[in-house]
This record gives sequence, C-alpha cells and structure tokens, in this order.
Amino acid sequence: MELRTYWAVVFTVFTTWGGPCIAADLIDRPCAARQVKSGQVCVCTAEYCDTITRQPPESGTFVSYVSSEEGLRFHKTVGSLKHYAKGSSYTNVLELDVGTQYQAVNGFGGAVTDAAGINWKNLTDQRLMDHLIQSYCGDSGIQYNMLRVPIGGTDFSTRAYAYNELPENDVTLSNFTLAYEDYEYKIPMIKACMKAASAPIHILSATWSPPIWMKTNNAYSGHSHLRKEYRQTYADYHYKFLEHYAAEGIPVWGISIANEPLYASVNYVPTKINNMGWTLDAMSEYVLENLGPTLRGNNSDFKHVKIIAGDDLRFTITLFWNIFVAVYPETLEYLDGAAVHYYMSDYVPAAILSQAMKDYPGKFVVATEISAGALPSDTITVDIGSWSRAQLYVNDIMQNFGNDVIGWLDWNMCLNTEGKPSYIGASVDSPILVNAEDGEFYKQPMFYAIGHFSKFVPRGSRRIKVNVDCGTKIQNVAFLTPYNTVVVVIHNEGPEENVRLRLGDEEAELLINANSITTVEMLNSGHQIKLFFPVFLCYIFYFIVLM
Ligand SMILES: *[C@@H]1O[C@H](CO)[C@@H](O)[C@H](O)[C@H]1NC(C)=O
Ligand SMILES: *[C@@H]1O[C@H](CO)[C@@H](O)[C@H](O)[C@H]1NC(C)=O
Ligand SMILES: *[C@@H]1O[C@H](CO)[C@@H](O)[C@H](O)[C@H]1NC(C)=O
Repeated sequence: MELRTYWAVVFTVFTTWGGPCIAADLIDRPCAARQVKSGQVCVCTAEYCDTITRQPPESGTFVSYVSSEEGLRFHKTVGSLKHYAKGSSYTNVLELDVGTQYQAVNGFGGAVTDAAGINWKNLTDQRLMDHLIQSYCGDSGIQYNMLRVPIGGTDFSTRAYAYNELPENDVTLSNFTLAYEDYEYKIPMIKACMKAASAPIHILSATWSPPIWMKTNNAYSGHSHLRKEYRQTYADYHYKFLEHYAAEGIPVWGISIANEPLYASVNYVPTKINNMGWTLDAMSEYVLENLGPTLRGNNSDFKHVKIIAGDDLRFTITLFWNIFVAVYPETLEYLDGAAVHYYMSDYVPAAILSQAMKDYPGKFVVATEISAGALPSDTITVDIGSWSRAQLYVNDIMQNFGNDVIGWLDWNMCLNTEGKPSYIGASVDSPILVNAEDGEFYKQPMFYAIGHFSKFVPRGSRRIKVNVDCGTKIQNVAFLTPYNTVVVVIHNEGPEENVRLRLGDEEAELLINANSITTVEMLNSGHQIKLFFPVFLCYIFYFIVLM
C-alpha cells in the first residue's frame, strides 16, 4: 500500500469512528447560577458564559439534557437503551412512531428589535456581546436559525419612525433610506448571528406602521387604514426594504402583510402601539393588485420571498386566513401561509392552527411572537428567574408544534432588567436581561426552555407521532431529525416521574425530575442502513482522490 493510501485509510477510519470521541471531549461550561427574586438565572460576564454542545448519540445509547426548576440547566447524561419485553405494562410509556410523520420544521428564533440591539450594544465589551450572540446563534448556544426584524420602528424603539417620512405624499419614495437604528443596532446584530450560526438564518419581516402620510389618521397609532392612493407605494415600500437589506448582505425569507392589523382595524381598544388596520376587502385588493405582483412580477428580484397573512393573535387566523381565502380565493396564488402571536392564546384552542391549513396543502402556519409579562392582567412585567415563565414558553411551543406549526419566534432577544426601552413606556420580560452597568447579562429559565427545542430540532426535522397511555400527564413532542435521530422533548409540571421512551424494540428508561424540561436524542435504529451508504461513498471518494 502506498503511503498516501495508508493515510487515506487512517483518515477515513478516524473521521468515521473517531468523530463521536472528539465530540464527547468538548467540555460544556456550566451555568454560573445566581439566586434572584423569583428563581435562578445564569450569569454571563466578559470572562465567563455557560455553553452547551450537542453530543451525537451512538448506537445503543441515548443522550438526555435536563433543565429544572431546582436549578439544572442542560444537564447532559448518556444512558443505555434496553430491549424491552412486549406486553410489559407501565405508566408513562411514550411510543415513538417514526412511521407517522407530520410537518417539516423550519426553525426557531427571536426578534431583533431596536430595544434588543440597543441593549446588546450597551454591553460595550466585545467579549460580552459575543457571548450573547453565541448563546443564541452559535453551536455552543441554542442555535437559532430564524430572526424577525421589524420594517421601521415598533413599540420597542426609542422613537416612532418609518422610512421615507419626508417628503410627504412622495409616491415614488424618492427619499427611501434605512434608519440610524438599522445601521447601528439591527443590521450588526443580525450579521453577528448569521456569522455565528451554522445554518442559514431565515428572516421574517413586518411593518408596524408606514410613514404617517400614507395613513388615514396621519398618526403612528390609533384607528387607521392605508390611504387607497398609496397602495402601490406601500407595496414598493416593502420592495425597497428588501432591496436595502439585500444590499447589506441580509436576505429576507418572508414578509407579513401587516403586524397585528386587528388592533387598528376597529376602534375598540385604545393602544399606543404603532400599527395600521385593514379591512379584508382592502387587504385582498392590496395583495392581488399591489403586493403580489410587485414581489412576484417578472422584474422582481424577490419572487422567492414568502408572503404571510395574519401575524396577529391566534384567534385571528380564522379571520385573516380562513375567511380571507374563502372569500378571496385568488389571493392563494400569492400567499404562502399565516402567522400567529401568543397573546391571549389561553382562550383559544390550539387545534384551530392545524385546522386552518387542512384544506390548503403546501401552506404553513408560523408562530412569530411571544413575550411574558405583556398582558394587562400581568402585574409584573420582568419576573427575574421565574420558572413558571419557562413553562409558559414550553406550553406555547408544544401547542404550536403539536398543531403543525413550522416555526416559532420569540419577541425581543434581550431587554434591560426593567424590560425596556420602549418609547410608549411599555415593558415586557425577555429570555436574556442585560445589566450593562455591572457588565453582565442574565439567561433566564425561558432561554433554556426555548433551547430544549431550538438546539436539538434542526431545520428539516419532521414531527412524528407519539402514542401515550391515557394516564400520563407528561407533555411531549417528538421529531425525526435530518441526522436520522429521534428527538423527544418532555415537559413535567408535577413531581418526579418514571418515563419510558420506546423506539422499535428498544427502550430508554428515564427518571424525569419534578418541574423539568428534558430533551432526549437517540438514533433511529430502524433506519441505520441509510447511514452506511454515505460512509461507503466516503471510502470511494478517498480512494479515487488520494490514490
Ligand atoms: C429625506 O429624509 C431625511 C430623513 O431621513 C430628511 O432629513 C430629509 O429632509 C428628507 N429629504 C427631503 C427632500 O424631504
Ligand atoms: C412574465 O413572463 C412570462 C414568461 O416569460 C410571460 O408569459 C408573461 O406575459 C410576463 N408577464 C408580464 C406581466 O410581463
Ligand atoms: C445602558 O447602560 C447604562 C450604564 O452602563 C445605563 O445607565 C443605561 O440605562 C443603559 N441603557 C438602557 C437602554 O438600558
């Protein structure tokens, strides 16, 4: 054997069988825990921030990660799978049925609002800023692969603004430029995440309010509609936004027709949030005559950009999708799906999400906004360290994915410890709170709750069926990933429980901590033959190239 061939064999054997050993050697940095008012946070400083790496499971084993109210954060252990005797009866048996598959997952993420960017930049120390980005987007973090970026300002900005505010009544948008906030906060933060992430970042965008000269009430908030004479200008406004972001190296994946259009459509709740209302008639004409042809026309550079309806509270999917496309079926040519927000979902069955797309194959639902402490009934906005807010997030993610939703996005990626800034005086909670004065930021339980899904369920995973005995109180959702592994997320809101995960004729037996979130990953043993083929191709490749 020639020396070159010898090294090719050594290299192949090493990369094929040595890989898992290398992965196992990566040491995770544990949470630097601090007890705070309502529980525990993990503290990141310029010198230290906790990390988590995914350990690929080997044949015959499962890898589990646990976070709990008691204080575990992504606590990683490896266990052995056992063959189980058919007919053995236990409670909390979850049968993983890879043969029954549902939606393909697009991803997870959060919003790069002005407030998020302002707090991120306020950390000033580059190491601290990197820790925050790595925590969200890096392979040693929770691996976000989606982001939401507002088109202009939102309530979580330090002023009300849109693009091309002057000159007024400028139908050609002759003065369209991005804002200071784009260059200073949003673009740098998005680019840092894109650089840290190993998967392409899918970006969703929506306008809260256009320049006020386009609106019937000539104001950022309140009951308003788009002036009919500016419909094409408003479509061009979106096109220009896509162009400007593309020029900055940021491709946008999808845009919504509007953010939360219901508020401003009817004069029923006074709100200070910048928004614009729509009647269904006006919306259909705008989609068919303006937005659709502008984006999908022969001269468009953005034909692939998804057009998304709704982007409002869960119950409104009936109005902004089902009723809308039933009355105006021609809009289906342009619409790719609908988006929903978390607020007030407790009153609305999650099944309306899977029902909404039942008759529209190829169309999707994406969950684009959630924040804790945002409802009028919430007496505290930032509840630092709260485990119940992690539970709220897990419940929302499980409800959405359990009902065929393809992606899930949080609101502000970080805020200060008061849940700000907001020019209208609003305040909400965020998975990461920045304390710039003390040079640290805090990862709340909500951060880990999201990570139990976002890190282990990569794009292209498919949800699979889980058969449970009816007595079980354990909430769960399971996926088949592109690595040919099965990932199960288990949520226990009660005392310690024994749980058995069954896949084929193998079983993982776990003791699930009280009030905990557990992610378990194991090889899809039934399909191992598929893995052999790429390995075999590798050999051929090495021999052809190197001999
Ligand atoms: C163009 O917009 C800028 C603000 O971005 C404004 O200061 C300027 O006056 C506008 N130009 C005209 C001609 O209105
Ligand atoms: C767009 O291009 C197609 C095929 O090239 C053509 O049939 C169609 O008429 C064009 N549409 C417009 C509006 O120019
Ligand atoms: C930015 O940090 C400074 C202290 O370093 C603090 O006084 C200020 O309030 C912070 N800004 C925000 C928006 O929290």
